Amino acid sequence: SSTASPSHRSASASDSNAPTQPFVIGVSGGTASGKTTVCDMIIQQLHDHRVVLINQDSFYRGLTAEESKRVHEYNFDHPDAFDTEQLLDCVQKLRSGHSYQVPFYDFKSHRRCSDTFRQVNVSDVIILEGILVFHDQRVRNLMNMKIFVDTDADVRLARRIRRDTVERGRDINSVLEQYAKFVKPAFDDFVLPSKKYADVIIPRGGDNHVAIDLIVQHIHTKLGQHDLCKIYPNVYVIQSTFQI
Ligand code: CTP
Repeated sequence: SSTASPSHRSASASDSNAPTQPFVIGVSGGTASGKTTVCDMIIQQLHDHRVVLINQDSFYRGLTAEESKRVHEYNFDHPDAFDTEQLLDCVQKLRSGHSYQVPFYDFKSHRRCSDTFRQVNVSDVIILEGILVFHDQRVRNLMNMKIFVDTDADVRLARRIRRDTVERGRDINSVLEQYAKFVKPAFDDFVLPSKKYADVIIPRGGDNHVAIDLIVQHIHTKLGQHDLCKIYPNVYVIQSTFQI
C-alpha cells in the first residue's frame, strides 16, 4: 500500500534466503464490529504462512484497587486505558524477529493475570487488532497495511450486549450505561477519526467475503506467493485508500 513501510522485504523464489521482516496488518473498528472474525478469516486463508494475532485488549492497564471500587466510572475506551508503550515494544520486538510474552487480560476482574503470559514467536505476518490500534502514530507507522472494519452502530451494540452479558459477566443495564457514557463518545472522538488512516475499509465485517479475499490476495502478493495471482490475474496490489 502507499503507506507500507519501505523497509518491508518479501521473500521470493530468487530471494528465499534473504532475511524478511514480518508483514504487519492493523485491524481496527468500533467495539463488536467483527474485527476478530475478519482476523480469523484472514488467518484461515493464510494457512501456509506463520501468522500471529496480537489483541490490543491484552495491553489494557490493570485497574488499581481504588479504580476497581469505582469501575463504572472507568473509561475503557479512552486511549489512556491502554499501555501503548508496551504494545509498541511488543510489535517492535516481533517485527525485528524476537519472540514476546504477551500479557493476559481478564475482562471479568479488569486485571492482568500477573503470572500468565502468551508466548508469541517469530512469524511471517503479525495482525494487530483493537479499537484504537490506529490512534498512536508510532504504532501506525509499524503497519504495512491498515484495515478498518465498518459495521453499523446498531449491529455493534446488539452484539456487544449479547457478548458482555454472556461472556464478560455483565448485566444489561451496566452494558447500556457504559455504552452511552464511554463507548459511544470515545468511538466518536477517537475510533472514527482514526478511520482516515485505513488503506482498506470493510463494510459489514466478517460477512464481506469479497473484501477478505482481496485483502488475502494482496498479502499473498506481498509475501511473494504468486500462485494465487495466476488464478486472479486482474486483481493485484491495493495501492491507496479505497472503500470496497
Ligand atoms: N472493555 C470492557 N471492560 C474492560 C476492558 C474493556 O468493557 N475491563 C470494553 C471497552 O469498553 C471496549 C471493548 O472492551 O469498548 C473493546 O473490545 P472490543 O473491541 O469490543 O472486542 P473485540 O472482540 O476485539 O471486538 P470485535 O467484536 O470487533 O472482534
